[in-house]
Amino acid sequence: MSDIVTVKAPVNIAVIKYWGKRDEDLILPLNDSVSATLDTSIMCAKTSVCARPEFKENEIWLNGKKESFHSPRLQNCLKEIKSRAAAENSVNEDFLQWKVRVCSENNFPTAAGLASSAAGYACLVTALAKLYKVKSDVSSIARLGSGSACRSVYGGFVRWHAGTNPDGSDSIASQIKGSAHWPEMQALILVVGDTKKKTSSTTGMRISTQTSELLKHRIKYCVPQRTDEIIQAIKEKDFPKFAEITMKDSNQFHAVCLDSYPPFVYMTDVSHLIVDLIHKYNELSGSTKVAYTFDAGPNACLYLLEKDVPQVLSLIRHVFPSSNPHQFVTGLKTNEVAL
Ligand code: DP6
Repeated sequence: MSDIVTVKAPVNIAVIKYWGKRDEDLILPLNDSVSATLDTSIMCAKTSVCARPEFKENEIWLNGKKESFHSPRLQNCLKEIKSRAAAENSVNEDFLQWKVRVCSENNFPTAAGLASSAAGYACLVTALAKLYKVKSDVSSIARLGSGSACRSVYGGFVRWHAGTNPDGSDSIASQIKGSAHWPEMQALILVVGDTKKKTSSTTGMRISTQTSELLKHRIKYCVPQRTDEIIQAIKEKDFPKFAEITMKDSNQFHAVCLDSYPPFVYMTDVSHLIVDLIHKYNELSGSTKVAYTFDAGPNACLYLLEKDVPQVLSLIRHVFPSSNPHQFVTGLKTNEVAL
């Protein structure tokens, strides 16, 4: 039997954004967030791990390139997996001493605001949990790699509870509804640019937490109500409500970036063209048929129902003829993590 564990993890795209930390080391957020997990068939991370007595040191390869294993986030994830394994008595002492080898790949633009770190860390931690036979909640371990990664551990619609405990023990993800609940829901990713962003999410969040008045307002007055409402909309499959909250929350997140000092921007002119296009389309349709959301990058994620995909795709292809830099990855369904 092979001693190599291989796992695939999906991208998740937040509809209530996580932005700002109350603890940077433990990666504890200021607010709850909600996301949909996308099918692994088109975009995903894939990670293989193994531990052997002959390995001299821990090693990691990312997309075929050897990287340093010394990143504190990586170290924290491995440390936590091993301490859980020790507490759960799931593997023997010798196995815990062996060094690991990690090989990870993803098939989407890295660091362009396409949640690559979320899928990457969810994948790594799930693979390590399998290797060390850890049974307890892995979302809180994935969170130590990258906050949003904790939501990729589940399929369907997921909530990350900010929690209040200083040790982060209640800052975990839970599934709101599985993918079978709303199979008509689709996501279209519009790749506007794939260059590395100037301000990383981690840095941007730090600046916003320290300087943005709007962020304080958002966390106190907007996010709690929006979280309750969007969960209700998901449960009732109320697309117009889901869409309105999604768009407002994306817009507020980018407004927070501008309200930060110094300000930083992730959306480009093309991103704003997409926003205008979607609002015009919804207006002409007489109902809200499409929602956009933008993470820390220029790329759009559109949420829409399956029946509207052909018309929206032809509209997008008409407005942005399918030349670079606009590529359209289509037909993503929210789905369970296929391990
Ligand atoms: C805009 O999870 O990448 O995508 O925890 O510092 O690694 P770190 O940040 P990260 O931030 C994601 C921010 C976001 C919104 C979201 O996914 O909720």
